[in-house]
Amino acid sequence: MLLHWLFFAIAQACLCFVSVTHRSRNSLIPKRQWLQDLVTWDQHSLIVRGERVMIYSGEFHPFRLPSPGLWLDVFQKIKALGFTGVSFYADWGLLEGNPGHVVTDGVFSLDQFFAAASEAGIYLIARPGPYINAETAAGGMPGWTLRLNGTLRSTAPDYLNATVHYLSVIGKIIADAQITNGGPVIMVQPENEYSTWPGESFAQFPELFNRELMTFTEDRLRDAGIVVPFAINDNENMGYFAPGSGLGAVDIYGIDAYPFRYDCGHPYVWPTYRFPTGWQTNHTTFSPSTPFTIMEFEGGSGDGWGGVGEDMCAILVNNEGVRVLFKNNYSFGVTIFNTYMIYGGTNWGNLGYHGGYTSYDYGASITEDRQIWREKYSEMKIQANFFKVSPAYLTATAGNVGNGSFVSTSTIAVTPLWGNGTTTNFYVARHSDFTSTGNASYTLTVSTSIGNVTIPQLGGTLSMIGRDSKIHATDYDVGGINLSVLVLYGGESEVHEFALPMSTGEPKLSNNSTAKVAKLGSAWVINWQFTTSRQVVTIGDLTVYLLWRNEAYDLWVLELPASEPIGNFTSMSKSNVIVKAGYLLRTAIIDNNTLHLTGDINCTTTLELIATPSDSLTSVTFNGSPLETTKSSTNNLLATISFSPPEIQLPDLSSPYHEWKYHDSLPELSPTYNDTIWTLCTHTSTTNPLGKRTPTSLYASDYGFHTGSLLYRGYFTSTGTESTFTVNITGGVGFGHSVLLNSTFLGSWAGSGANETWIQNFAFPVTLEVGKNYVLTVLIDHMGQDEEAPGTDAVKYPRGITDFSLQGREMEDVEWKITGNLGGEQYLDLVRGPRNEGAMFAERMGWHLPSPPSEGWESRSPVCDGVDGAGVGFFTTGFELDVPSGWDVPMSFVFNGTEGGEEGTGGNYRAQLFVNGWQFGKYVNNLGPQTTFPVPEGILNYNGKNDFSLALWSLDAAGAKLGGFALVPKAFIKSGYSKPALVDSPAWVKRENAY
Ligand code: GAL
Repeated sequence: MLLHWLFFAIAQACLCFVSVTHRSRNSLIPKRQWLQDLVTWDQHSLIVRGERVMIYSGEFHPFRLPSPGLWLDVFQKIKALGFTGVSFYADWGLLEGNPGHVVTDGVFSLDQFFAAASEAGIYLIARPGPYINAETAAGGMPGWTLRLNGTLRSTAPDYLNATVHYLSVIGKIIADAQITNGGPVIMVQPENEYSTWPGESFAQFPELFNRELMTFTEDRLRDAGIVVPFAINDNENMGYFAPGSGLGAVDIYGIDAYPFRYDCGHPYVWPTYRFPTGWQTNHTTFSPSTPFTIMEFEGGSGDGWGGVGEDMCAILVNNEGVRVLFKNNYSFGVTIFNTYMIYGGTNWGNLGYHGGYTSYDYGASITEDRQIWREKYSEMKIQANFFKVSPAYLTATAGNVGNGSFVSTSTIAVTPLWGNGTTTNFYVARHSDFTSTGNASYTLTVSTSIGNVTIPQLGGTLSMIGRDSKIHATDYDVGGINLSVLVLYGGESEVHEFALPMSTGEPKLSNNSTAKVAKLGSAWVINWQFTTSRQVVTIGDLTVYLLWRNEAYDLWVLELPASEPIGNFTSMSKSNVIVKAGYLLRTAIIDNNTLHLTGDINCTTTLELIATPSDSLTSVTFNGSPLETTKSSTNNLLATISFSPPEIQLPDLSSPYHEWKYHDSLPELSPTYNDTIWTLCTHTSTTNPLGKRTPTSLYASDYGFHTGSLLYRGYFTSTGTESTFTVNITGGVGFGHSVLLNSTFLGSWAGSGANETWIQNFAFPVTLEVGKNYVLTVLIDHMGQDEEAPGTDAVKYPRGITDFSLQGREMEDVEWKITGNLGGEQYLDLVRGPRNEGAMFAERMGWHLPSPPSEGWESRSPVCDGVDGAGVGFFTTGFELDVPSGWDVPMSFVFNGTEGGEEGTGGNYRAQLFVNGWQFGKYVNNLGPQTTFPVPEGILNYNGKNDFSLALWSLDAAGAKLGGFALVPKAFIKSGYSKPALVDSPAWVKRENAY
């Protein structure tokens, strides 16, 4: 049935196209010179292969899920949302830890990322930096850049030169994966939020601003072969680098916005000072020739040391936030829309900045362990699917915000989107006060092809219940396609209405339906109230499902593959199926009369085929297994998949019978420890902006140590007068330190969620002997470098000892040595990257890698025995897993309870977790909040042996042991995912020159 909707007053519609007469593509290409002609644009939208596409995208960083075999799983979960794109950063700091050596293989290779995106049918927006922010250490810049004299991200020649090699390598990798080369990449963003410079407002001094930096970066990427459009993410929303704005201008101007801000501790309070009300005006002022683009829009939020946990961030930006603010974005006509993050992942291997902990779950729609139970996943899915089938939206123009003329009450604000060449108009309604949790009733008066109408026509009122927003549409043009199924959904008890031309035939209601149907003028009008039960209306060949929102959540709209080059990418020319299922459907293929589905279930689930392109389907398979089918009362094919989770043997890591091996990891306290080959702190000058505060620099970055932890040894010969040592240490927010004199523990700073530095005074417990040599040992947790705004050089803020005094002595009287990870920038483990290891003895020896030489070590458990006194103990163990194939069982290491320290305080201790050599957790018992550390399959061997170790650092004299520690399966999901290959995890080999 070819349709034009007259109006519908409905939260949204999810439509299924079954056969298509689509428009001529070429007519859409505007006349303009492009570097290629596969990705073009006009003021409305991006046009890919001649067809307008809503780029509905989510941010996903491959480097935060270092199990390449799982990338497809995440892409499929994003595709299942109805999204068409993914935006990703590359982290220069992880790739070029050793200057001049850009490592792009193993988990750092993007090959599988590109292949998985294409397989899932997801276009990519590549964001290679060189600066990325992203809550990464140094915003993604390598540690060695901290020593550059020039300001980072400026046009200082040493900074520009530093970026050249990386940009040429990553540029080529991305260039090869562009759509022009058959790959998924359609857009590239150079730099990141390059918008302001201290003391220099871009708006005031556009020509003074460091525009050459952007030009330089763009040129390097173009030289490497990038031909797709460049985009900018202007967080100032001031038109910086918009096309035509001068040097460094990009092709597509985009903004960034985080209106919910980051206070996860008060997740129900929506701060309003950044809530947008005029973005369409900004857009038409700053960049009238490009589509309205939001390169990042808050899809979750980050949390930090001592914080409240990522689940609270998921509440801050929850399904209601997505309902209100995402729809507000549509009211401004956004057609390139990326939400940050859609899947956060993990700051494994110390890759994060100091303001965050190991989890980068971000409260995103897809959890860190790849689950999709958060309601906003479903909310995003029903929204994105609407835009996939609303071609009229892609050319609509936003009108004035909150125009009172459409609505009966000032408590509701309505922003229109005018159809522009299509008959369709959209009206986005919300509470005038965005944050309102109240209920409002309203009617909407709009002009349609049958004249002005006030909706609802057949009685009742429309309603906005709690934090909500609705898209009303008139003369809805589905783009000249044949439509057989229409899904309309809404909240329970809401009244809605839609109308069809009289020519479509008389609507027939399902028996349970309480809808009212009336002829009004030349239209059939259907008015109903949602209940939790499904109501169905049939009109000729068309079936309209009136679904309670929560039932709509269970619907999956799956694109059937098309021939190349479209394949699995989105196109209006493709057919879809709609299947009601439970947890997840991934893919659909029709072969003869069989529908082959892949997907996941987490309980016994009945599939219902709501819409398929053909009535002749007779059978269904799920993950390759044929299903028995029956028919529903409305003749839909049904099939039930039974669920019974497997029994999995797990190690009991807390049991006294579980074998752990133990080795001291602070042998530096022993008088016989030999540190002759440690690095002497000899630099008499530093490029660090803080300046040198000690006779020789003690900044770790000056000696090539940038990650994990730092150890200092300060030697002096006593004159018998020294009685205190005062030290100023910076390790980043959440850091801690312990200080010892020879083997005597002097004390610790246990850290806080606020301090990046700490000055502490240590009194020596005994009088020192004249003429005797002493050594001060300082162990510092390195929480990662800061990020920065352009021009601030904040990332250079040092880590290590910035200043000290030894009472009664000159600073020169103390000779310092330092170590961090073995090899520093010439790091040894090229497979796990430059940040995975720190300064601790066990790490320097490589014992955190699989199969350490632990045969002769003491048997000792971190739970039953722990560490005696202040110091670091290294515990290692092994266990086998055997998870049956076809089951996705996300697992986490979980700390339960605490022991040690003073009664009731839980004790000040820190632990690092190593899984098959990969650092997958930094736990701070006295700060938290993270106690659960997910580790992905692939890093964990699900079918074989695993090596696990834990470096336990007691900052208390009383020692520390874990209250409990377990490997916990977080879900049993019968899954159609592709089982990931085991990630290469090289085992321990004796490290020559390890000290
Ligand atoms: C943006 C930035 C991202 C990320 C985000 C906050 O401003 O571009 O990289 O840091 O903020 O999560």
